[in-house]
Amino acid sequence: AVDHAAMGHGGMGAAAETMPAAAALGLPAGLALPALPLLRNQSALPGVFQAGLSAGAQALPLLPGKPATVFWSYNGQVPGPTIEVFEGDEVRLHFENRLSQPTTIHWHGLPIPADQDGNPQDPVPAGQSREYRFTLPQGCAGSYWYHPHPHGHTAEQVYMGLAGVFVVKSRSDPLAHLPEQRLVLSDLKLDADGKIAASSEADRMDGREGQFLLVNGAWRPHLTLGAGERQRWRIWNATSARVLKLALPGHELELVGSDGGLLQRPRRIDSLSLPPGARAELVVTGRFAPGHGAGLLALPYRRGKMMSAEQEDTLTLLELRRGAAAKTTAPLPARLREIELLGEPAVRRKVVLSEDMANPAAMFLINGKTFDMERADFLGKVGTVEEWEIVNEADMDHPFHIHGTQFQALARRKDGVWRDEPFLAWRDVANVSAGETLRLRFRQDMPGLRMFHCHILEHEDAGMMGMLKVEA
Ligand code: C2O
Ligand code: CU
Ligand code: CU
Repeated sequence: AVDHAAMGHGGMGAAAETMPAAAALGLPAGLALPALPLLRNQSALPGVFQAGLSAGAQALPLLPGKPATVFWSYNGQVPGPTIEVFEGDEVRLHFENRLSQPTTIHWHGLPIPADQDGNPQDPVPAGQSREYRFTLPQGCAGSYWYHPHPHGHTAEQVYMGLAGVFVVKSRSDPLAHLPEQRLVLSDLKLDADGKIAASSEADRMDGREGQFLLVNGAWRPHLTLGAGERQRWRIWNATSARVLKLALPGHELELVGSDGGLLQRPRRIDSLSLPPGARAELVVTGRFAPGHGAGLLALPYRRGKMMSAEQEDTLTLLELRRGAAAKTTAPLPARLREIELLGEPAVRRKVVLSEDMANPAAMFLINGKTFDMERADFLGKVGTVEEWEIVNEADMDHPFHIHGTQFQALARRKDGVWRDEPFLAWRDVANVSAGETLRLRFRQDMPGLRMFHCHILEHEDAGMMGMLKVEA
């Protein structure tokens, strides 16, 4: 049972809340994994991707025998349409806001100009439209996503259904020969009437989790894999708050990519920890060894010491069915690409994450402050390597995210001991668990205001966000 009688983080006075159990709602499970439809390119010009996106309410049939559930969606789809482009492409998106509140579209992880990145300073008012326009640099192939970023309403707009994936492809992709699956993981929390539930006070403190952990909008769908078959899986953690520890018992898993594209070489793994907002690319080989019937699992994970909404049970996200054995197993290159370690930093900063549960107006803090749109917290320079230490003084995990660039996580300190990160990767989200310090480096290549924040969307909305002002 997934019934939680919420106590609230740290025993604060949250109203008791009962979520109807998953079984009581009758959401169908076990359907085929839905494909993610592509957003059609309306431009005939080479190297230009042009399309329209509109955000609005959309009723979608979800529970048999119940009225359709109202989502907020991009182009009527949940998840939103998939944008697929190539490195070097110019992207022009005409956006219409048909919601009853302001919104923006943030292009999570992409190296694009700050004034096109859907910052909370650039809202699109209800009923209005704007054009987002940017050119993707070479070398940025990877798995990104887009979602709203309006001041104070990001969590609500995302859990109502506004999010879609954005894949940048390379013309020289060493894994292009593999069949590809795209898996968007999201939480759905319904009330007893089958409507999307409002967030409780506990959700706003701990981060919202639902009764249903969906894959491409479906509950426990199935996917077919052959013995010896190799598939490339891109996975998005589009949940508001879950740190997902993923496993696929009985099969071979190789991690080949992170948020910002391929690693240097494949790495054999048993499980993968994916914080909210983060992405990974895996190569899965069908082995059907003992345990293979379990499917793609989310293992139990505790994000905090005193939290109500903890994932205590192993959840099945996806069933794997056995298909015809592969005649040949496509080889995996030993080398995927080069990643160079960023050089010595010109600037070092400390970013302290903390909580003040006694202060409802400013509960989630960065360097003792709550977000202020008028305040740049740090002044940086284009092209300069910065080294940041993200110090989590709170008693729960806070996944750190920065806009406009990818960083390299170098080392972590836990219980007084520094440990180097096991490999180099380009990321834009990294979990920082309670009491931990994460050291990372990045460079911003474009001027403008760049947000950095906790990617538990409720914490971002509550002010666990700051701004880096990058000057030319
Ligand atoms: Cu995905 Cu500033 O966020
Ligand atoms: Cu972002
Ligand atoms: Cu947080």
